[in-house]
Amino acid sequence: MSSDLYGLAVAVAERAYAPYSEFLVGAAVRARDGRVFEGVNVENASYPLGICAERAALARSVVEGCRPGDLEEIAVTASPCGGCRQWIYEFRLDRVTFRGADGEVVTRTPAELLPETFEL
Ligand code: THU
Repeated sequence: MSSDLYGLAVAVAERAYAPYSEFLVGAAVRARDGRVFEGVNVENASYPLGICAERAALARSVVEGCRPGDLEEIAVTASPCGGCRQWIYEFRLDRVTFRGADGEVVTRTPAELLPETFEL
């Protein structure tokens, strides 16, 4: 259930490494086979080198063998940035649950988050 996944994202956020922004983000991805992969944002003194929680979780799923189409949903404690929306779209997830700027937790499709998406 999306709410369970969101709970995992909230719990893992405290493990984020974000000394520069102090903005801790957690993400949890559920594969269609039931496996769950968590991610946090990991920042760096060279700011652009940091990675978002969503991409950390998606990369972890790839390490474990997942490919586009294998992932069902992702939950994130922040509204996904533009780059992460493109990553989420690439992996063809069914839905994305996240905490919007107003604090409300909502569920959207990747296409709703990134309409008229670039595809090769
Ligand atoms: N951040 C994420 O982890 N995910 C997003 O989609 C939004 C931004 C992180 C990146 C950076 O470490 C911090 O939040 C502040 O931008």
